[in-house]
Amino acid sequence: METKFIMISSSKGGVGKSTAALGISTRLALLGESVLLCDLDFGNACLDILLGVEDRVLYTVSDVAKKNCRAKDAVITENETNINGLALLPCPAGATVKVAEDEADGAISPKAVIEAVKAAAEELHCRYVVIDTGAGVSALTDEAAQLAHTILVVASHNPISLRAAEGTVARFSKLGKRDIRLVINSFEAKSTINKKYQRKGLLDIIDLSRAPLVGVVPYDYGLLLSHEGLVLKTFSGEMSDADKAFHNIALRLMGEDVPVFNGIKKLRRKRVQLYK
Ligand SMILES: Nc1ncnc2c1ncn2[C@@H]1O[C@H](COP(=O)(O)OP(=O)(O)OP(=O)(O)O)[C@@H](O)[C@H]1O
Ligand SMILES: [Mg+2]
Repeated sequence: METKFIMISSSKGGVGKSTAALGISTRLALLGESVLLCDLDFGNACLDILLGVEDRVLYTVSDVAKKNCRAKDAVITENETNINGLALLPCPAGATVKVAEDEADGAISPKAVIEAVKAAAEELHCRYVVIDTGAGVSALTDEAAQLAHTILVVASHNPISLRAAEGTVARFSKLGKRDIRLVINSFEAKSTINKKYQRKGLLDIIDLSRAPLVGVVPYDYGLLLSHEGLVLKTFSGEMSDADKAFHNIALRLMGEDVPVFNGIKKLRRKRVQLYK
């Protein structure tokens, strides 16, 4: 079975990269795929917290890279994440490990980090590896991009993050990457339709980023509360619109031809106005 590597990126911070990495991985797993979610944000690792497994972290991707342990020892298993099919390769917290070409002062090289990701994917025999990266472009994001079959560039619905998306797409295109797709996150339908605010419509956003659209995730206050640990996230009840958006993105990554707003009634009804 060939493993598909999917990288999540943007040069801008706070646009929803980790949210998208977690949402897409979770939905791929709930669709029956085996998924390894890799946290490569050496500045602000957070996926262990978002998955509620921070107390389970013993070794991290950095230990695997330094050969302090086997990849399997660092991976938080599906039994621990409580999501069938979803494992996590955590990253050291609090910017304690430096990633640099020059391995002086205990830094690890971007190549060694990516080798660790590959080793974990091989040991787990997983179908998908979803790589969350930190804000910015760096030797590590370039190295991760070289590994990735698909790069998802996340933009939130504001002009600064759209400029960042355009730059990020351009950077990876220059590296020769062809499958680069756009995720629009925290999308606000109301202010897009309301002429007073003049928020960009979907066609303008796609045009600006120069990447094809893979999904649109609406702004979802419930998602924000669950990330802050204020409400418990369960997968037994009804899916929120953000869940449905991640579900649709997962299906599209699996090769299914589903409409972007599949099942999201509120947005589907208004889609002609949103694609203005
Ligand atoms: N669709 C959404 N609706 C509401 N809140 C969201 C949505 N997506 C992300 N958020 C919130 O926005 C904040 C930033 O999200 P996130 O941490 O995923 O961004 P990031 O790009 O990974 O940031 P960083 O660059 O710091 O790694 C978080 O508080 C998250 O809960
Ligand atoms: Mg993040």
